[in-house]
Amino acid sequence: MDHTTDISREAKVCITRNVKGSWKEMLSDAGVRVVCPDDDGGDRAWSRQEFLTCIQGCHGVGCMLSERWDAEAFDAAGEQLRVVANYAVGYNNIDLEEARSRGVWVTNTPDVLTDATADVAWALLMAAARCTGSAERSLRAGEFHGWEPNGFLGVDLVGRTLGIIGAGRIGTATARRARGWDMQVVYAHHRSKPEFEQATGGRRVDLDSLLAESDFISLHVPLTPETRHMIGAREFGLMKPTAVLVNTARGPVVDEAALVEALRSGQIFAAGLDVYEDEPRMADGLVGLENAVLLPHIGSATEHTRAVMGELMATNILAALRGQEPPNKIS
Ligand code: NAP
Ligand code: GLV
Ligand code: GLV
Repeated sequence: MDHTTDISREAKVCITRNVKGSWKEMLSDAGVRVVCPDDDGGDRAWSRQEFLTCIQGCHGVGCMLSERWDAEAFDAAGEQLRVVANYAVGYNNIDLEEARSRGVWVTNTPDVLTDATADVAWALLMAAARCTGSAERSLRAGEFHGWEPNGFLGVDLVGRTLGIIGAGRIGTATARRARGWDMQVVYAHHRSKPEFEQATGGRRVDLDSLLAESDFISLHVPLTPETRHMIGAREFGLMKPTAVLVNTARGPVVDEAALVEALRSGQIFAAGLDVYEDEPRMADGLVGLENAVLLPHIGSATEHTRAVMGELMATNILAALRGQEPPNKIS
């Protein structure tokens, strides 16, 4: 497909949710015809069929991480499609081979959500370490009868070891925050990362050593065939009984049924999760566990971050429609 001509003045772009930020003005000012499902002011997720219908005939689509781009979706969009701009940094919902074979650019929203997501990793780490979920549930249930010497005993943070799996942008930002607690940082990565070591003082170890040494383990790898079920029954067996596992990456990186078992049996102390294997479903038994802190995939959810993500998505779409390589091109 010829990608060099500027088609922005006649292009049709669909943004699948009414996200924050000035993306609509950015696209309209450039002459792009914008279709948004929520033009009536509402905001809801589309059914698969609505998604497939609305992307038809579009030159660009700004989409959500919950929308799957497989051969069926690329077929439904049509061969005029130039760019799929994911409103997320993770892009495991998009079949890159399909995109490449059709000459469609795929983009994401890196960097702008790094700090927001690292903050949620720490919110989960601290909440899981200090039992704040179960303590709050107890209070709200009317069970707070005064200070208790033995209730909701957690684990300490200062001076302990934080293990980072996936030393990329969010892994680095999460590790940097550990300085405030004088923690040691270890990391597992498929190559050495001098920039991570410089920013965090972290030491590279193999995955099994990280699992055995760490008091807190935080996952920051993308979901790929190699990282699927990277943490399962064998890995829980290597962790300390006082370990806290935090997952803000992608649910399938953890074998969720094995996690339920590890939490239930006390093989690890607690877990803090923002992501699940088959969202919005959760493994049987997970919601009933007091030592699991569970958030509904809110890693990047701040007003500011979500607005900047929307604008970055529009920047990527506009570049592609003008025949220029988008700044956040994945493929
Ligand atoms: P990133 O900068 O690309 O970091 C991911 C790192 O993981 C990269 O450095 C990559 O190394 C490394 N990696 C890949 N495969 C690995 C493996 N098998 N073992 C060890 N390391 C491996 O991405 P990011 O911006 O930090 O985002 C990370 C992930 O967080 C995203 O992919 C997304 O799934 C998730 N996320 C979730 C939320 C949320 O709302 N909960 C928000 C944002 C992001 P190389 O670069 O050397 O390949
Ligand atoms: C959120 O999960 C993202 O990948 O941006
Ligand atoms: C607790 O409130 C304390 O004073 O130790």
